[in-house]
Amino acid sequence: MTDTTKQDRVLIFDTTLRDGEQSPGATMTHAEKIEIAGLLDEMGVDIIEAGFPIASEGDFAAVSEIARLSKNSVICGLARAQTGDIDRCWDAVKHAPQPRIHTFIGTSPLHRAIPNLTMDEMAERIHETVTHARNLCDNVQWSPMDATRTELDYLYRVVEIAIKAGATTINIPDTVGYTAPRESADLIRKLLENVPGADEIVFATHCHNDLGMATANSLAAVEAGARQIECTINGLGERAGNTALEEVVMAMKVRNDIMPFQTKVDSTKLMNISRRVAAVSGFAVQFNKAIVGKNAFAHESGIHQDGMLKNAETFEIMRPEDVGLTETNIVMGKHSGRAALRSKLENLGYELGDNQLKDVFVRFKELADRKKEIYDDDLVALMRMATDPESDRIVLKSMTVVCGTEGPQRADMSLTIDGAEESTAQTGDGPVDASFNCIKALVDHTARLQLYQVHAVTEGTDAQATVSVRLEEDGRIVTGQSADTDTVVASVRAYIHALNRLLVRREKGGTDKREISYKDVG
Ligand code: KIV
Ligand code: ZN
Repeated sequence: MTDTTKQDRVLIFDTTLRDGEQSPGATMTHAEKIEIAGLLDEMGVDIIEAGFPIASEGDFAAVSEIARLSKNSVICGLARAQTGDIDRCWDAVKHAPQPRIHTFIGTSPLHRAIPNLTMDEMAERIHETVTHARNLCDNVQWSPMDATRTELDYLYRVVEIAIKAGATTINIPDTVGYTAPRESADLIRKLLENVPGADEIVFATHCHNDLGMATANSLAAVEAGARQIECTINGLGERAGNTALEEVVMAMKVRNDIMPFQTKVDSTKLMNISRRVAAVSGFAVQFNKAIVGKNAFAHESGIHQDGMLKNAETFEIMRPEDVGLTETNIVMGKHSGRAALRSKLENLGYELGDNQLKDVFVRFKELADRKKEIYDDDLVALMRMATDPESDRIVLKSMTVVCGTEGPQRADMSLTIDGAEESTAQTGDGPVDASFNCIKALVDHTARLQLYQVHAVTEGTDAQATVSVRLEEDGRIVTGQSADTDTVVASVRAYIHALNRLLVRREKGGTDKREISYKDVG
C-alpha cells in the first residue's frame, strides 16, 4: 500500500459555474448556481470559481451569495485585466471567508492583437492589474490566456511579472485545447525551471477538450509539478468542454500507484453532483462517459457478466459505490411506505423536511400506480420536480392527443391559468408540436424554443421520460423539466414549467444577457 502521508496534494479548482456555465445554452438560474456551489463545497472542492462578476448583475449576485454561504472552499471570481473588473470581482468575493481574485489576459500573438497592445504594453498592464488585485486580496490567481500558443520567452517574462506583482497562483490555460500530454508536462517543467520565484507559487493547469486530451493533459501537467487542476463537473464547457473533475479525481485515486497525488474530494458524491449539473444545465451526460455515464459500470455482454459474478474485479477497476452509485435494483413499488421512501432518498443524498416528504410521497404513489418498478433514477427525476420553488401560475389540467400515421396530429388541452380554466384544440406536426401549439394558443408569450430534449430515465417501455425545454424571451433564458411515463405529457409539463419560470423572471425584470464575455479582452 502507498504511504499517503508522503503524497503531494493537488488542489481541485472547479469552474462549472464560470467556464462551464458560460457555454451557450448551459445557463443556470440563481437558485441552481447556489445549489451546485453548495454541493461542490460539501464535496471537498478546494476552490470554486463562482462566476464572472462584471459580466452581468446576475453573475455578480450569484458570486456574492455563493461567497456569503461558502463554508470550506475558497471562492473565486474572474476579472479581465482592468481595474474596474477587478474591483467588481472583489466586491463580490470579499464576502467569502476565503476569497480569491482570478485575473487574466490573452498573451498569445492572436490574443495580443485584440486589445492591440505591444508586448511591452501588455507586460505593463499585467504588472498594474495584478498589483491592484493583490492590494485588495491576499489570494490572487493570474492566467495568461492561450498560454500554450504564447511564445515561450514571452510567457516566462509575463509569468515572472505576475509573480513579482503578488500572484499566488499562476494558471496555464490551454484555451483552445491544442496541447498534448508531453507538451503540457514540458511547459510546466520549463516554467518551474526558468522563471524566478516559480517555486514559491502554485502552478495550475486549465485544459479544454477540443482534441479529447484535456484529462491526459491535466494529469501530465501535475506529474511535471502543477498542483492545481481546473475542471468542471461532467466536463461541461464551451465547444468540447473542460477537463472533467470526476475523471482527474478518479484517475489519481484509482492509479495512485503511478500518480501518487491526493485530493480532498469525496468521490462518493460524484454521481449525485453529476446528475444535478446535467439536470440544471440541460446538458445530458453521454451514456459511455467515463466515471459518471450510465454505462460506465454496466456489464452487458455474457462473458463480462459471467466474470463479474465470479469476481467483480475481473472487469471493474473501481467499485460503483466509490463514485456514489448505489445499486440500481428495483427499489420500491406501490406498497412501499413513507419511511422507506425517506430512507431511500437519504441514501441518494436528499434530506427532506416533513412537508416536502409528504408532497414527494404523493407523487411517488402516482408514479407507482403507473409503473411497477421504481428505480433510483426514477426517484432522482421525481425529486427534480418536487424541489423547484418557482411559482405554478399555469397548471396542466387535462390533455388528450390523437396521433398516428395520418397527420396532422391533434391535441385537446385544458390549463388553469391564474386560477381560471381555459381550453383549446390545435393541430401540429406530431403530438408534441400539436400540444405545444395548444400552450402557445392559451398562454400569451413570444418565447423561442431553444432546446427540446427527451431521455428515458430507465429501461423498458414503461420507463419515465425526462424532458428539458429551454425558452428564451427578451434575453431571459429559462429551462423547464419534467418526467412522466407519457412522453408527451412530460413534454407539456416541461414547457409549462419553463413558462412558469419565465413569468417569475418577467416580474423580477433584468435579463440573462451578459454585456461582457471573457473573450472581450479589451
Ligand atoms: O480557457 C481559458 O483560457 C479561460 C481563462 C479565462 C482562464 O477560461
Ligand atoms: Zn477556459
